[in-house]
Amino acid sequence: MPAPLDCRTALPTLPPALLERLRTADEVLVLTGAGVSAESGIATFREALTGLWARFDPAQLATTEAFVQDPARVWGWYEWRRRQALEAQPNAAHRALAAWAERHGRLRLVTQNVDDLHERAGSRDVIHLHGSLHAPRCFDCARPLASPALPKTGDRLLAPPRCPACGGPARPGVVWFGESLPAEALATAWDLAERCDLCLVIGTSGLVQPAASLPVVARQRGATVVRIDPQPAADFGGDWQLLGAAGAILPALLERL
Ligand code: APR
Repeated sequence: MPAPLDCRTALPTLPPALLERLRTADEVLVLTGAGVSAESGIATFREALTGLWARFDPAQLATTEAFVQDPARVWGWYEWRRRQALEAQPNAAHRALAAWAERHGRLRLVTQNVDDLHERAGSRDVIHLHGSLHAPRCFDCARPLASPALPKTGDRLLAPPRCPACGGPARPGVVWFGESLPAEALATAWDLAERCDLCLVIGTSGLVQPAASLPVVARQRGATVVRIDPQPAADFGGDWQLLGAAGAILPALLERL
């Protein structure tokens, strides 16, 4: 595997083999993580100091047990994250991916993110492996519920609204640790990983399964795997690492295609 390409100040001249693959790929799978929303001001999870898990305990906020123990705390935390997502704007990375899909026609986007910035940038049929902040459902009967009006900033943590059908508490529509991923989304993502000939892995630490296995499966099936992240991955098993911010690299890449 070639050494990572330093793209932190500008996109360098790309190796012909990489440029050729980027230009001629037939089926493209893009897997994104929190890093692609970082330039929109939304915190990632594992970056030291600023990451959500450096400031909050996932066991207290992102598990079923935590919700049962204190629904208002869990619901309130996700409402805080939903407010952040609604107040954020898509960044150049989101826009470049939407433009790339529009131009290419056979590019599918799978995300671990629960915000809707890909959609708001124009991406269609986005596959959300970890659910969405904008799709609450009843904790008891699983009926989809409408997102309530956001509480005013600084309001006390409110108890989650109640399901009109069964009276159960609303829960966030995200996948908590220990929960299964949405079956249809995961099946589609596996199928795309098996069929693609180019897999772009953007803004993810690649530490959470099963999402982290998608590029591995793609490569086993012969796809070229390209990772875009400011931090190199020591155990990267793919073909190319472009070091830098997705919001800078993706628009520059698109111009070269
Ligand atoms: N451009 C590209 N990548 C970036 C940028 C940027 N501007 N800023 C940060 N990154 C990278 C970080 O270097 C890191 O590798 O984004 C990655 C974010 O990694 P995580 O914080 O671990 O987020 P993610 O990989 O999406 O987490 C996966 O873990 O907690 C669960 O459900 C949660 O979906 C989440 C999953």
